[in-house]
Amino acid sequence: MNVASQIDAFRREWGARLIILGHHYQTSEVLAHADVIGDSLELSRKAAAAREAERIVFCGVHFMAESAALLAAPQQQVYMPDVQAGCPMAEMADLPRVSAAWDVLNRIDPGNWIPVVYVNSQADLKAFCGNRGGITCTSSNARKVLQWVLDQNRRIFFLPDEHLGTNTLHDMGFPDEAVVVYDPRQSGGAVPEAALRNCRMVAWKGFCRVHTLFTSEQVREVRRLHPAARVIVHPESPKEVARLADAHGSTAQIIDYVRAAPEGSIIVIGTERHLVERLAEEYRGRKTILTLWPSGCANMARTNPTKLFDLLSTWPERNRIAVSSDVAPDARLALDRMMRL
Ligand code: 13P
Ligand code: SF4
Repeated sequence: MNVASQIDAFRREWGARLIILGHHYQTSEVLAHADVIGDSLELSRKAAAAREAERIVFCGVHFMAESAALLAAPQQQVYMPDVQAGCPMAEMADLPRVSAAWDVLNRIDPGNWIPVVYVNSQADLKAFCGNRGGITCTSSNARKVLQWVLDQNRRIFFLPDEHLGTNTLHDMGFPDEAVVVYDPRQSGGAVPEAALRNCRMVAWKGFCRVHTLFTSEQVREVRRLHPAARVIVHPESPKEVARLADAHGSTAQIIDYVRAAPEGSIIVIGTERHLVERLAEEYRGRKTILTLWPSGCANMARTNPTKLFDLLSTWPERNRIAVSSDVAPDARLALDRMMRL
């Protein structure tokens, strides 16, 4: 029996007691074994709803499996085929430097900030935010979450992705001056105090190496080569790219955009290449789907069918994802606030 058939045999044997979740950035070979394919928000919801599953296998990156572990019931166990599949952006916001920045902000305008943390973050950072009245967001609901903060007449401390924060606030009609970028590598974030006093958002200078490979030149080149094409990019892309594109949206929103486009459309997409390649295949002959640049997430690519099979056949303890009880309750607070929205 080959690996794929052996995985199928395990899935049949386990039935509803096992659920395999696959993020859209996984390869088609991995997604062939997923019970649910989705973006990070959808998969978190599915993990929370799958109460009959004793074991949840997350084919994605570490922060996603951590979110599933936070939302899982006590009798459910969450695993990853490769626990080394991290997210470099999530690692760019560490607790000591975030706490130092938080102190600076609260010296300048005490009690007037709400931390908003992208789910692409580690559990201890989610806990830090949950404990300070903060909330998580995904790229699908960032706008709704920012509105929730602004409706309370508070200011936003956005972590860890500068671009998602900046692009979303701009979409809501705010000018560029409303955002101040805090660079944790520089003393005091390299931000003048006056700018901190006047802004609506302080955005942490973190970024995704996959989405910051997209450039304005690439969009211009598409316009030259395919004048009829429409360009859509993920909001983790730099603001110049997001603004030159025809649209920007989360993974789920990109999929909906392609679905809604008329037959014969040419759509050029700036996001992780495995998703774009799958959409190109799905719509072949009806719509032309091209990649803005073939940018791949090396961490997502760490998972493969062989590692999935090894996990299912041995269930090693080291592949289990659990969140320490020191941080889990506060991290859950931040996630629950988002889920309620
Ligand atoms: P989504 O929230 O759109 O699934 O994106 C996750 C991610 O890692 C994007 O780089
Ligand atoms: Fe992290 Fe970027 Fe990979 Fe998403 S695509 S998991 S943000 S490195």
